[in-house]
Amino acid sequence: MDVEVVYPEVFAAVRDRLAAAGVPSPGVDARWLIEHVVAGAGAGAGAGARPVLTRGSPADRLEALVARRAAREPLQLVLGTAAFRTIEVACRPGVFIPRPETEVVAGVAIDRARQRAAGALVVEPCTGSGAIACAVAVEVPGVRVLATDLDPAAVDLARHNARATAPERIEVRHGDLLDPLDASLRGHLDVLVANPPYLPATDRGTWAPEVGDHDPPAALIGGPDGHEVVDRLLALAVEWLAPGGSVVLEIDERRGAQAAAVARTAGLGDVEVRRDLTGADRVLVARRADRSGAAER
Ligand SMILES: C[S@@+](CC[C@H](N)C(=O)[O-])C[C@H]1O[C@@H](n2cnc3c(N)ncnc32)[C@H](O)[C@@H]1O
Repeated sequence: MDVEVVYPEVFAAVRDRLAAAGVPSPGVDARWLIEHVVAGAGAGAGAGARPVLTRGSPADRLEALVARRAAREPLQLVLGTAAFRTIEVACRPGVFIPRPETEVVAGVAIDRARQRAAGALVVEPCTGSGAIACAVAVEVPGVRVLATDLDPAAVDLARHNARATAPERIEVRHGDLLDPLDASLRGHLDVLVANPPYLPATDRGTWAPEVGDHDPPAALIGGPDGHEVVDRLLALAVEWLAPGGSVVLEIDERRGAQAAAVARTAGLGDVEVRRDLTGADRVLVARRADRSGAAER
């Protein structure tokens, strides 16, 4: 349904209210909010009927959602879900909301996992909502995914999303990076993928309200220089990847060259920095040398 055509006055009023509140994409968000209320009211309205949005409970519901978005609560929290590649993941307050640039990171991990033998093992520390883990599990046939997070609220949400997508393929554990993994997996990971906290502490205070007031600081800040967790993951990759296995990390666009240098110093090969859809350096990709010593495959 094109809500701009079906509800032109409601659409214009919501869009203008969001614009006045400083919401960056008021027309897009107005459309999502109205569609959400129409879909929810549809069942009670009867087949083919168009729910009335100017009075009664659909109008009250729309007003409540618009007020939250106008207060700069992220759209994904207001709707309760985010689209991520081919799936939808639930979002909850207090847990990092998946971003479009991370879909590119997940895509690289998916390609690398597909290049491995059937039954590949993909590990995703810093899983948050579990979006990357769920996308990998859905898009890579026969894969097994192990995800971890330090935050119990993230672990709960990732388990919820895993149950809704590919429960038999994903396991979510609580703990620091790779600590929750059995030691027997050392040297056996096919892909290590993560979107870890990577912003410097000095960035705090520069974020839009949707980020600064809603994403947990521990999901954003990677120590004073921002790269504490990325550097730890690169060191772990050398120990935990199988020969020929890949590490795929989301990074701060300002630190591409530096992250690549850390990866090479750690002993990884085939190091590349790939760009996201906005052209920013966003994904660090590297491989552990295979048994012949070659990083290339
Ligand atoms: C930027 S969010 C990424 C969430 C999700 N992977 C995504 O891309 O949407 C980073 C996540 O890392 C978690 N985290 C931070 N430090 C961690 C650590 N040392 N070990 C495990 N998880 C950690 C945070 O709790 C947060 O959920």
